[in-house]
Amino acid sequence: MANVTVIGAQWGDEGKGKLVDWLSNRADVVVRFQGGHNAGHTLVVEGKTYKLSLLPSGVVQGKLSVIGNGVVVDPWHLLSEIEKIGGQGVAITPDLLVLADNACLILPLHRDLDQAREAAAANKIGTTGRGIGPAYEDKVGRRAIRVADLADRSALEAKIDRLLAHHTPLRRGLGLPDVDAGALLAELETLAPQILPFARPAWLLLDEIVKSGKRVLFEGAQGALLDVDHGTYPYVTSSNTVAGQAAAGSGIGPRGAGYVLGIVKAYTTRVGEGPFPTELFDAVGQRLGERGHEFGTVTGRARRCGWFDAALVRQSVALNGISGIALTKLDVLDGFETLKVCVGYKVGGETLSYFPAGLKAQASLEPVYEELDGWSETTAGARDTRDLPANAIKYVRRIEELIGAPVALLSTSPERDDTILMRDPFQD
Ligand code: GDP
Ligand code: IMO
Ligand code: MG
Repeated sequence: MANVTVIGAQWGDEGKGKLVDWLSNRADVVVRFQGGHNAGHTLVVEGKTYKLSLLPSGVVQGKLSVIGNGVVVDPWHLLSEIEKIGGQGVAITPDLLVLADNACLILPLHRDLDQAREAAAANKIGTTGRGIGPAYEDKVGRRAIRVADLADRSALEAKIDRLLAHHTPLRRGLGLPDVDAGALLAELETLAPQILPFARPAWLLLDEIVKSGKRVLFEGAQGALLDVDHGTYPYVTSSNTVAGQAAAGSGIGPRGAGYVLGIVKAYTTRVGEGPFPTELFDAVGQRLGERGHEFGTVTGRARRCGWFDAALVRQSVALNGISGIALTKLDVLDGFETLKVCVGYKVGGETLSYFPAGLKAQASLEPVYEELDGWSETTAGARDTRDLPANAIKYVRRIEELIGAPVALLSTSPERDDTILMRDPFQD
């Protein structure tokens, strides 16, 4: 199969960045297709750490990288990330980075709205506060400013007027000061010459790439359970995060997604609010967080931790059409005497094999656990399945059975090469 789509199969932070970086030397182009700089993808290469939020994780390997139309782009953040990564020795030029000219922009007023709403809400979502939700609202509300508008002063003026007609009453309601239309226009006009050199019809470039037989690697952000339709709504992000979005968010067409590689953490974490059936509030949860360094890249918040939830991942396998998974952070489970895996839920007297959509059912469900023996040996840094203890292999095999998908890759540390290839997604 020519292309591979990498998506998070849980609540994000599964290790997508590490795997995309690892796989990108097998691809010709790496494409982000949704989300924005709410993502935080950490890559470790020979001890050097790169933290990417908006740039596709292929840039570190020098691969052509595309920010697709489905991404919401904060242009100020983009420039600062280009500068930061440039400072680490990765020069980002228009030869390396393409920004879809039809992608929508995140403006400071989106961040203001995101943060003011979170501050005022009785039931917070726990967003990253980066304006993602309000920017997507303006996109579907048909009043967003898009990358191509930066080249057209009269379009910008008209769009700013339309945007402010919507935002001014909202801002006043939240006690925020009015936005100065002239100042916003001037800021965007200052940005334009820095952003426009990267802007191109990305769909056209991808069409040419596909026709010439080259390979595309799609990089998802967030995870399936944060998907605006399929996730734990309303505690979700504001984009479709499932693999199907790779097509709409890049303009490649539905056959382009190829092999769908779900990235799955060997336990479960979540940042922000919302249901989490296998969450642990005890020493075990604390140990997972400490061993796994579970702190958000973007906000620095401690990630909530819990046992592996096979019922949720099985659901994710169906929602994404997952062909195979990369199981990450197996090393974090080293030294546990026993491990629990959730295989379904009890709601009232009934057993459910999937996570229900109703809030009442979600609040009352209890996980049904299966217990597996742990291992005392270390898996950290293993690069061959022969280096894995028998019980670690058993854990992996049981996960495959429970979720109904095979393991294609195993990850045993943050380092790029501490990765075990079991079957090549580009060849499968
Ligand atoms: P992403 O958002 O899916 O790209 O994941 P993040 O980068 O936010 O979070 C994953 C974290 O785990 C990062 O700090 C990675 O360096 C780290 N990581 C990735 N794979 C492994 C692994 O197999 N073992 C360990 N211990 N850490 C890993
Ligand atoms: P990566 O790509 C984990 C969560 C936020 C919040 C919810 C909505 O690194 O896996 P938003 O700012 O998107 O409106 O917040 O989504 N969230 C993530 N959680 N990993 C991410 O990205 C996330 N991006 C957003 O914590 O609960
Ligand atoms: Mg992350």
